[in-house]
Amino acid sequence: MKTRNLRSICGMLIMALLVSFTAAAQGKPTIYILATGGTIAGQGATNIAAGYKAGVITVDQLVNAVPGLDQVATIKAEQVANIGSQDMNDEVWLKLAKRVNELLKQPDVDGIVITHGTDTQEETAYFLNLTVKSDKPVVLVGSMRPSTAISADGPRNIYTAVACAADKESKGRGVMVVMDDKILGADDLTKTNTIYVETFQNPNYGPLGIMYNGKPVYSRTTLKRHTYNSEFDVTNLTALPRVEIVLSYSNATDLFIHSAVNAGAKGIVTAGVGNGNVTTLMQNAMAEAVKKGVAVVRSSRIMTGPAAQWDEIDDDKYGFTASWFINPYRARVLLMLALTKTNDYKEIQRMFVEY
Ligand code: DGL
Repeated sequence: MKTRNLRSICGMLIMALLVSFTAAAQGKPTIYILATGGTIAGQGATNIAAGYKAGVITVDQLVNAVPGLDQVATIKAEQVANIGSQDMNDEVWLKLAKRVNELLKQPDVDGIVITHGTDTQEETAYFLNLTVKSDKPVVLVGSMRPSTAISADGPRNIYTAVACAADKESKGRGVMVVMDDKILGADDLTKTNTIYVETFQNPNYGPLGIMYNGKPVYSRTTLKRHTYNSEFDVTNLTALPRVEIVLSYSNATDLFIHSAVNAGAKGIVTAGVGNGNVTTLMQNAMAEAVKKGVAVVRSSRIMTGPAAQWDEIDDDKYGFTASWFINPYRARVLLMLALTKTNDYKEIQRMFVEY
C-alpha cells in the first residue's frame, strides 16, 4: 500500500514538473489574474439595460469568456474579493498588496492582472504603485459595460491587459491600467466619464502607450518613484492611518475640517478651488488642525495642473503640504502611506514631489 502511495505521489510530482517545464518550454509567461469584482464581473437584467449588479461573475467565468487567452500566457486565477469598487476598502487593499508581493516573489510568476471596478480603480492602482515590491508588470483592468451587455468591453480589456502584463517591455514601468486599448500610468490616472468605455485618461502626462495588434507600444515612461523604488512597505501593516478629503467651494465653512479632526483623522486632504485655494474659514481650521498634529495636504478639484507651492497660500507658514500634480483621491492614498513613516510636513512635501 505504502509503495503504491509513494508511486502516485512521485507521479503527481513528475506531472507538476512536466506542466511547469512545458509552459516554460513553450515560452509562455505565467500570469496570475486576481479578481476583486466591479462591472467587469457584473450582470445586467438585459443585454442593453443600463442597470446591473457588479461583482457577480467569478474569476474563472471571466477568464473562460476570453477566447485565445491561453495562447498569450499560462493563466492562474484567484478571487480576492467580489465587490463593487465603490466599496473598496483598506482591508482589501492590504490583502491585495500582500498577495501581489507574495506571488511576484515566485520565480515562475511573470506578472499580475487585477480585475477591478472602475469607480475607485485609480485609487487602488496608485496604492499598489506605492506598495508593490517588484519590477514585474502589474496591470489593473475593468470595464464600463457588464459582461452581459452587447459589445461588452470586459473580454477585450482582459485580453489586452494580460497581453500587456505578459510582455517583457512592460517590466519596470510601475502599476498600469489597460482599458480601451490604452496603457495608462497609475501616476496620473483619472476616470473622466461616467459611461464611456474610453473613460480612463492620464490628463496631465498622457498615456504610457497603446495596445496595438495584441502588443504594448510605449510612448512615455513615468518620472515618478514607484513599486521597486518605493520607500513604503505594507508587509507588517494591518491598518492604514485615517485620512479624509474635504472639498472647497464658494462659501465653504470650516465644518468638515473640524469634523475630520474630531473624528480622529490623522491627515486631511483639501480638494481646493483653482490652485488648491480654500476659503479663509477653511484655511484657519486647517492651520488649527496642523497645530493639533493633523497633517494637511492642499490638492485641487481641477482635473489638470498643479496645486503648487509658493502661490496664494504660504504653506511653510502653516505647515501645509502642496500636492502638485496629485489629485485629491491619489493625494489621500499617498498621505495615508506617508503617515506610516512620518508626520513632518517637509518630509511629506518631498514625497509629494517624488511619487
Ligand atoms: N459599481 C462600479 C464599480 O464597481 C461600477 C463601475 C465599473 O466597474 O465600471 O466600480
